[in-house]
Amino acid sequence: MKFSYVNPTVIHFGQGQIEQISHSIPKDSKVLVIYGGGSIKKNGVYDQVVTALKDHQWSEFSGVEANPTKETLDKAIEIVKTENINYLLAVGGGSVIDGTKYVAAASLHDGDSWDLITGKYKPEAALPLGVVLTLPATGSESNMGAVVTKKATQEKLGFLSPTVRPAFAVLDPDAMKTLPERQLINGLVDAWVHVCEQYITSPTGHMVQEGYAEVLLRNLLDLGKAFEQRDDVWRANLMWTANQALNGLIGTGMPQDWATHMIGHQLTALWDVDHARSLAIIQPSLLRSQMEFKKGKIEQMGRNVFGLTDSDDLAERTIQAIEAFYASLDVDTQLSEVQGDKSDAVDAVVKKLEDYGYLKLGENQAISLEVSRQILKQAL
Ligand code: NZQ
Ligand code: ZN
Repeated sequence: MKFSYVNPTVIHFGQGQIEQISHSIPKDSKVLVIYGGGSIKKNGVYDQVVTALKDHQWSEFSGVEANPTKETLDKAIEIVKTENINYLLAVGGGSVIDGTKYVAAASLHDGDSWDLITGKYKPEAALPLGVVLTLPATGSESNMGAVVTKKATQEKLGFLSPTVRPAFAVLDPDAMKTLPERQLINGLVDAWVHVCEQYITSPTGHMVQEGYAEVLLRNLLDLGKAFEQRDDVWRANLMWTANQALNGLIGTGMPQDWATHMIGHQLTALWDVDHARSLAIIQPSLLRSQMEFKKGKIEQMGRNVFGLTDSDDLAERTIQAIEAFYASLDVDTQLSEVQGDKSDAVDAVVKKLEDYGYLKLGENQAISLEVSRQILKQAL
């Protein structure tokens, strides 16, 4: 176990905390508030932000779509550059936050913003950004990742940079009250798979990371079971669990997989499948395919998360328990966006993986293109 760990994002957690942004952003900043399709205008979040920024100079950019696009974000970058904006405030879910991170980094670059994704531009600095989170799912509010889509080529790709980790994030569970059930369930499932990607590898004996991952998984399972009885405490627990699932802590010094995400992103890019649902489609098939490496950890999950008893088929029963968890939330594990024969769909995804050079995915680099093809055949 060897790692360096820091997570400098200040978290303001709890009801009424949106007012904290007035102290968290320097008063002499020129702020651009970035948000999505307008949900924040229906739940009072926008009004609270306006009140909190009453002593700041600010303007706004709206219309960042779910699975944010380069095409839209380039317009925000243009505004930042021409109006000398020097602080960004993302108000929304993972898409708005990721989009804002992209703007924060690309605004300091003279070339094409996509250079950030291809790696041609490696940011050494970015504009500071803060977050008001309205959808707990991605952990983007306090991590250094972002995923952006280039609409023109249907490419969905990410970048990682410590320069875009938010300076602060407000996590007020009341902001979630207007979330449609579908988005709330997406949040649960995305956070679940984030923990799995960092946990279902091989047993490491790292008690903190593995034990904490199991706590987070049990939380998400319990929150799923209590979905119909959700209240303030339920919302607060989901918000904090989803944050902890991908703020970097449980992944420190651990082998990590992320192949479910890499393959899942292609389903979103090609058929607009919700991010979380793309993961539920791929994951069970991927786990079965990688049993040779992951069996020990899947069995550990069966015992410590699902409370299953030992047996020769414990790993398979654990995967079935994961599938049952998705089914209990009405999350499809089939690609229903494509009807009939799915072989063209499998080819299309494999082609994308090949184009991106995703030739050896997973913690053991054991998921070759051919293995991805087998996983997709089983999954779709
Ligand atoms: O645009 P608005 O009007 O705000 O509506 C959004 C959007 O339509 C709506 N919504 C958000 N908060 C709401 C609300 N509706 C009512 N009440 C509220 N309080 O929900 C819809 C989906 O929002 P989105 O931000 O797309 O969802 P999510 O947070 O799940 O983010 C998904 C994106 O994050 C990326 C995904 O790939 C996807 O592009 N990810 C980012 C990661 C990261 N940065 O670390 C990791 C993840 O694995 C993931 O890849
Ligand atoms: Zn995810």
